[in-house]
Amino acid sequence: MAEQLQQLILDTLNSQHVIEDTRNLVLPGQAVAASTSEDQITILGALNSLLSRDMIQYETHEVVTHAPTAEGAQILKEGSHEARVWSVLPPKGHGTPMTPVQLKKEIGDETAKVGQGRAFKNGWIGKEGDGLVKTVSEIKDVTQLDIQEVANTGTLKAGEKVLADLRKRKLIVQKKGQWFTVRKGPQFSTSTAKPETDLTVDMLTSGSWKTASYKKYNFEAEGIPTAGGALHPLLKVREEIRNIFLEMGFAEMPTSSFVESGFWCFDALFVPQQHPARDLQDTFYLSDPKESLPPNPEYYKRVSTIHEFGGYGSAGYRAPWSPEESSKLLLRTHTTASSAHMLYKLAAKCRGESLEDDSKEFTHGTSTAEASGKTDDGFRPAKLFSIDRVFRNETMDATHLAEFHQVEGVVADRNLTLADLIGFMRVFFQKMGIEKVRFKPAYNPYTEPSLEIFAFHPMLDRWVEVGNSGMFRPEMLEPMGFPKDVRVHGWGLSLERPTMIRYGINNIRTLVGHKTSIEAIENSPAVMF
Ligand code: PHE
Repeated sequence: MAEQLQQLILDTLNSQHVIEDTRNLVLPGQAVAASTSEDQITILGALNSLLSRDMIQYETHEVVTHAPTAEGAQILKEGSHEARVWSVLPPKGHGTPMTPVQLKKEIGDETAKVGQGRAFKNGWIGKEGDGLVKTVSEIKDVTQLDIQEVANTGTLKAGEKVLADLRKRKLIVQKKGQWFTVRKGPQFSTSTAKPETDLTVDMLTSGSWKTASYKKYNFEAEGIPTAGGALHPLLKVREEIRNIFLEMGFAEMPTSSFVESGFWCFDALFVPQQHPARDLQDTFYLSDPKESLPPNPEYYKRVSTIHEFGGYGSAGYRAPWSPEESSKLLLRTHTTASSAHMLYKLAAKCRGESLEDDSKEFTHGTSTAEASGKTDDGFRPAKLFSIDRVFRNETMDATHLAEFHQVEGVVADRNLTLADLIGFMRVFFQKMGIEKVRFKPAYNPYTEPSLEIFAFHPMLDRWVEVGNSGMFRPEMLEPMGFPKDVRVHGWGLSLERPTMIRYGINNIRTLVGHKTSIEAIENSPAVMF
């Protein structure tokens, strides 16, 4: 149909040069001219297709047309109410007149009621006794004929008065319609062969590309949305926090080691071997391989000694040391394991070893010993951070998964004080958009003093815990070889919490896991703290 119609339009244009009024076209397979609005919509489709190939041009004209309502359509099929009344009645003088009750039964209440009045008015029926009879032998169902004309042509020759009457009787409705005047376009031809949209090898080898007609580029087309990658909200927030660290002069620590030993995750941090955090219920241990390679034997000795017997002014834990516990491989429960490893490397020169190449870039390079009136003891200050994944054997719920990300900062310098740590964190959190912070004394096995960090959350209208911090213990730093006046402070927070707050997410599963909506990830805005 579509192609036949396009062909008809082109042929008509070819012979007449212009189609003044598309309502005069007789569509393929139809007997009468295309006067209904549906017909014109079909024509419009064909016109637009031809227009896109520049084969024609057209102008649009708006008109008001009419179309039958559902009741009108029923009359087209079955006749008007009055005609149906007339048709069931016996002719006058023949048979038994029909009572109004019988009539209702025969053709239904509504038709009988509406039809009787009109049939009387038209002089089609009359009374005989108590009953009704036909008074004429033939009728002309004008209502049906009028609706038929409206259906065919969208209007009535009889004029507006009759149209208005049919509208009032709700048999037809007014509709906005369109019709078109069509002229030849620059690419006019009577051939509807589809224009080519692509050059193919076949066309090139056969030479048919020379004569083929081509579809024009539509530069206004919106195009298919490209399915590009999108950064996950966690990665966006990570980038923001990373930038804060970088602008504060921090260097990023390598944290690719998800698997650590009990030694680096706990022992080196002076976490007692009996600490509940080391239980199976809290930590994922590896079954294969089970054990780590041994750490540097001298450092190991210093660490185990300070746990078991104390030293450097500490009483130690005075509990038996278990080498097995120390060599167990596990999924790191905090990135402080990596920080410990990094600090150990930083202290290499203080131990009289040479600084490993990969740790040079993490120090500030200049000795601060002279400023303290001492000879160079190998110590170099450092500001380090990491944002990476950690694992805990937690029961999963709306806010906890067995793995999450930790943001961690570590600062090493001589004679740092708790005030330095607090001041630093105020600046850091301020850069994250958190103005009001409060600190509460807390306990970490590896820091003393330790502080929990609380921030006032304007959206939640309450103080929420945002992090944990402290000054690393001498029990941790001195076995590494750091001079006594070197202090290291650190703090940690989760990446998920600020991300969830930022994006108004209250279930972690919306953010991570199989229930995450890819669309929501793609549409999540870049954030500004
Ligand atoms: N490791 C701590 C935690 O998991 C964070 C922290 C890092 C605390 C450094 C003090 C110093 O919560």
